[in-house]
Amino acid sequence: MAKLAVLASGSGSNFEAIAEAFAESGHEICCLICDRRDAYAFKRAEKFGIQSFYISYYKRERADAELEIISKLEECRADLIALAGFMRLLTPVFVDHFQDRIINIHPSLLPKYPGTHGIQDSFESEDTELGITIHRIDHGLDTGPIIMQKSFSRVGNESLDEIETRIHDLEHQNYPAVLLEILDAI
Ligand code: GAR
Repeated sequence: MAKLAVLASGSGSNFEAIAEAFAESGHEICCLICDRRDAYAFKRAEKFGIQSFYISYYKRERADAELEIISKLEECRADLIALAGFMRLLTPVFVDHFQDRIINIHPSLLPKYPGTHGIQDSFESEDTELGITIHRIDHGLDTGPIIMQKSFSRVGNESLDEIETRIHDLEHQNYPAVLLEILDAI
């Protein structure tokens, strides 16, 4: 059995998909960490009985907040860290500390549309194929080695909401399975 920690900032629908998949998996989610006190992900953690922590970045050096995150991750003995809508760029010190053990999901076909508006940017593009990327974190913004990409064809007249739903569905179908596969190999 290996342990996964999840970092999120907002709704946490990916976190919930992971929690559902992990329930019968033999692996464990050891904690959820959020940088926003009002993250809906906290409610989802409560529902699954997963311990969760709020770590503030407010009026604080990023490196200082990260030290607190590192200490929580070590306390709960995380083998792997999944970013699931965690909207902060991690410092090289943090990334190197967990070398190759931080995985991210991004709602576009990277290297297209990195950053915090992947869905909006994908929607506004002329691209006929949209999709998601699961990758390891390196020092860049959404640049690390790609583990998996999944795409779908645009019908042509879908609204932003419809595109968002299709992207989230793809994320929920694929992210938990990729994480479980990595944990199986640890
Ligand atoms: C997801 O679409 C994820 O790919 C994206 O944030 C959303 C979080 O949704 N992440 C990024 O844009 C990272 N650059 P959720 O909170 O419902 O899981």
